[in-house]
Amino acid sequence: MSFAARLEAELEQFKQEGVYKRLNHLEGPQAARTKMAGRGEVVILSSNNYLGLCNEPEVVAGGKRALDQFGAGTGSVRFICGTFTIHRELEQALARFVGCASSLTYVSCWNANEGLVPTLLGEQDIVISDQLNHASIIDAIRLAKTITKCHTAVYRHSDMADLEEKLRGAQAMNARLKLVFTDGVFSMEGDIAKLPDIVALARRYGAVVAVDDSHATGVLGRSGRGTAEHYGMLGDVDIITSTLGKALGGAAGGFTAGPGPLADYLTQRSRPQLFSNALPPTIAGSALAAVRHVERHPELVTRLHENARYFRDRLRALGFQPLPGETPIVPVILGETAKAIQMSELLLAQGVFVTGFGYPVVPQGHARIRCQLSAAHTRDDLDFALAAFKRVGGQLGLV
Ligand SMILES: Cc1ncc(COP(=O)(O)O)c(C=O)c1O
Repeated sequence: MSFAARLEAELEQFKQEGVYKRLNHLEGPQAARTKMAGRGEVVILSSNNYLGLCNEPEVVAGGKRALDQFGAGTGSVRFICGTFTIHRELEQALARFVGCASSLTYVSCWNANEGLVPTLLGEQDIVISDQLNHASIIDAIRLAKTITKCHTAVYRHSDMADLEEKLRGAQAMNARLKLVFTDGVFSMEGDIAKLPDIVALARRYGAVVAVDDSHATGVLGRSGRGTAEHYGMLGDVDIITSTLGKALGGAAGGFTAGPGPLADYLTQRSRPQLFSNALPPTIAGSALAAVRHVERHPELVTRLHENARYFRDRLRALGFQPLPGETPIVPVILGETAKAIQMSELLLAQGVFVTGFGYPVVPQGHARIRCQLSAAHTRDDLDFALAAFKRVGGQLGLV
């Protein structure tokens, strides 16, 4: 069988197993409503455009200005060919925004996570990770383990007794650095890490805490500074990684923030920094404009949460059982993968774009429709989507 034929056969298998992902092509920007090729206008309930900044004129203008001033990019890695002043401005703004002393940008948060764990850990060290952490953290840990032979442990999701047991184990082995790594908001469940307990345990056992706030930056806390602000703990988290590809303009890019020397240390040692290009100026410019926009408009965060509360409450009133929570991620558990995919297709036919997730992204039997709210949604958008949920839910015998 040729290489291409083997790929074709595997793709066919994905289709038969119901795990094949079809890309939906949008003809306009991310917004509460946009045009989808072949579908006309749809309400988007499936985007991380939490604050509606993907198409915010100030954010788009910031990207254009930076493109005009700095051109397309650095042409190589930063330490070889220079970096742009807009990188420095963005990194200072991001550090201030999340309550840390320094930050360093990467071309994605995936890169930031992979550039962190293998850089900080060595053979005498251990990273302790929540069972439901994002794939980028899991892969960062696998990479670190392979490269550095560091130790690893996984604690049951948000189970503080289990985390303490893993920390006790780390103490018993006399680990030099104990790094506890957690998502701030868990993307498939929409729940928030128990940060006060995690930080208290870490302090007791002399561990360092890293939080991936990709779904919390711009989302949690009164002014959108993330999980730490949500708990009144700004400045208490050792390391924060996050994305620029969700609430902060939605283009791409990520960053790592922490104590003063961290950005410098990563600049020296983190392999994605040393061997890969810098964030394109367009993105640095739009992300910087996004941070400034959120700082000036905390009411966007308030609106986002009002929308999430409204949508959750109305779904429940219709007879659905969304997972309880206080974030704009509202999963509705349906059970079998095929049911989630069918519901997503029926909703799309009614003009609502929301993705169904099944195994292996979520455990077998826990397939779901994951709704994500945005400050950009109006009540009309949400009522339109809820009416579609009611019709489709009836059709599938769910409500
Ligand atoms: C928790 C978390 N970390 C990291 C990432 C990856 O972010 P990026 O798209 O910037 O690589 C995501 C994206 O889905 C995420 O949800």
